[in-house]
Amino acid sequence: MCGIVGAVAQRNITPILLQGLKRLEYRGYDSCGVALHVDGALTRSRSTSRVADLESQVEKAGLSGFTGIAHTRWATHGAPASHNAHPHFSRERIALVHNGIIENHDELRAELSAAGYVFESQTDTEVIAHLVDSMYTGDLFETVQQAVKRLHGAYAIAVFCRDEPHRVVGARQGSPLIVGVGKGENFLASDAMALAGTTDQIIYLEEGDVVDLQLQRYWIVDGSGRPAEREVRTVHAHTGAAELGPYRHYMQKEIFEQPRAIADTLEGVTAVMPELFGDKAYNIFKKIDSVLILACGTSFYAGVTAKYWIEAIAKIPVNVEIASEYRYRESVPNPNALVVTISQSGETADTLAALKHARSQDMLNTLTICNVATSAMVRECKLAYITHAGVEVGVASTKAFTTQLTALFLLALSLAQVRGRLSEEEEAAHLKAMRHLPAAVTAVLALEPQIIAWAEEFSRKENALFLGRGMHYPIALEGALKLKEISYIHAEAYPAGELKHGPLALVTQEMPVVTVAPNDALIEKLKSNMQEVRARGGQLYVFADADSRISSSEGVHVIRLPEHYGMLSPILHVVPLQMLAYHTALARGTDVDKPRNLAKSVTVE
Ligand code: M6R
Repeated sequence: MCGIVGAVAQRNITPILLQGLKRLEYRGYDSCGVALHVDGALTRSRSTSRVADLESQVEKAGLSGFTGIAHTRWATHGAPASHNAHPHFSRERIALVHNGIIENHDELRAELSAAGYVFESQTDTEVIAHLVDSMYTGDLFETVQQAVKRLHGAYAIAVFCRDEPHRVVGARQGSPLIVGVGKGENFLASDAMALAGTTDQIIYLEEGDVVDLQLQRYWIVDGSGRPAEREVRTVHAHTGAAELGPYRHYMQKEIFEQPRAIADTLEGVTAVMPELFGDKAYNIFKKIDSVLILACGTSFYAGVTAKYWIEAIAKIPVNVEIASEYRYRESVPNPNALVVTISQSGETADTLAALKHARSQDMLNTLTICNVATSAMVRECKLAYITHAGVEVGVASTKAFTTQLTALFLLALSLAQVRGRLSEEEEAAHLKAMRHLPAAVTAVLALEPQIIAWAEEFSRKENALFLGRGMHYPIALEGALKLKEISYIHAEAYPAGELKHGPLALVTQEMPVVTVAPNDALIEKLKSNMQEVRARGGQLYVFADADSRISSSEGVHVIRLPEHYGMLSPILHVVPLQMLAYHTALARGTDVDKPRNLAKSVTVE
């Protein structure tokens, strides 16, 4: 999703801005641009292609400057076209980039048009540029503080002015923005990774902050205009520029990295204990009477799987809510609930807003399962478990999911332990199974050649159904999400027992029905559901545990996983579904790592 980089320095900052944009590419974007202060004027270059194309344009034009801003845009208001790409200018005096959505942009546009401003784009961002210009007092910092008071919605902005050549001003509300502190130079960016190699001295701006960057100083005020002290942290950000090695795509690489990612997530875990989640975890786990999980997309499905685990192992009631629904719903707050947010990026706008909503209702026992230690989610929760999946570049989440599941299983065990529901023998058995997970996942990865053969057939389909039961129902949901987001095949997942209540009407010979078939307590029930599909001519593609006694027959295609892996089985069963989606997308020739319309980090509502 949109990415921002800004700089004020005493050297040519063009390479820093472009390098920053490259490091933000993983978030997903459809246009990009850069603006610089050159010889007393604003100059810009924009592209609807990749950052590499923007770089060539900038090189050709010989653009260089000491003050500037740059942006990758993921279209919300207005198509991905050059005139909608940021930076936006106002009267050749103000240059501005923006991440977020301004909800009152129509009203402001009407007001500014009436005042004589001519709009070149359909964006909500251009409205802010003109607003800043219309309120400009000769002091950009002061002006931006006043201008943001007129904005409703979410924003992170970086702005500079033709008349103040050594100054960049930033502001944030609802979208992330960080300051990079240098020596005689200062920077702004959407995340620390954008500035890796330039500075590791990072300030995470808080909601409502406005920052004034000059060469020798930076100055921050909070939402009420009061000077704000913000901690400068040393952040060793990963560049994300991981080599692909033998893989064709990051998604494939990340699928194959799962054994290592799970092992890293479990590193140092020698016993089950609440302290794995933070110093205050014991006291919090002791007093809570329920769990509320908030997340989006794949992270939400990790949460649904965790519900099965926590209720079965710790006997604590769990609600799992889609963050974008929960944040606007009139729910019944329970201050004794443990609020768990799950997020790969830790910056997902809906999940952050849901967390804020929960806290505003006195639900203060907060824990996050997150892959980015420096993210807003981690900073805003009392407790955290950092998954060590490593940077995930592919838009389709894979290793983040299995490491989230790993952390959530540990959470279920820890909650059970605090309640006296985990014997030492059980703890030892679960830990042994967890330690063996990397090897077990490696065995599943070896199924790739068989999955490639299936993918060839799937690539010619336009619809697919996924079935699962119990804790494998969310795995079916995740399999369907993976297939739709990267292959663009319409896929739906159902709990297998629900089939006869409606979706069975869709089953014909043309409908592939992917079935997640672990050898658990529900296997006989599942086999009956499979019969219902076969009786209607549906083609079954079954991922069955070796001991589940399901064999291939007419219309029943089977790929065998190793023997049933008990409660951790969902972590194994999702892996072939990831590979099926990946190879189907590959066969269909889609842009696997950057599927259309999607962004890696969804920082707008
Ligand atoms: O960073 P998050 O885990 O909060 O992201 C949540 C979703 O946007 C994300 O899981 C999305 O559904 C993925 N594209 C799924 O592959």
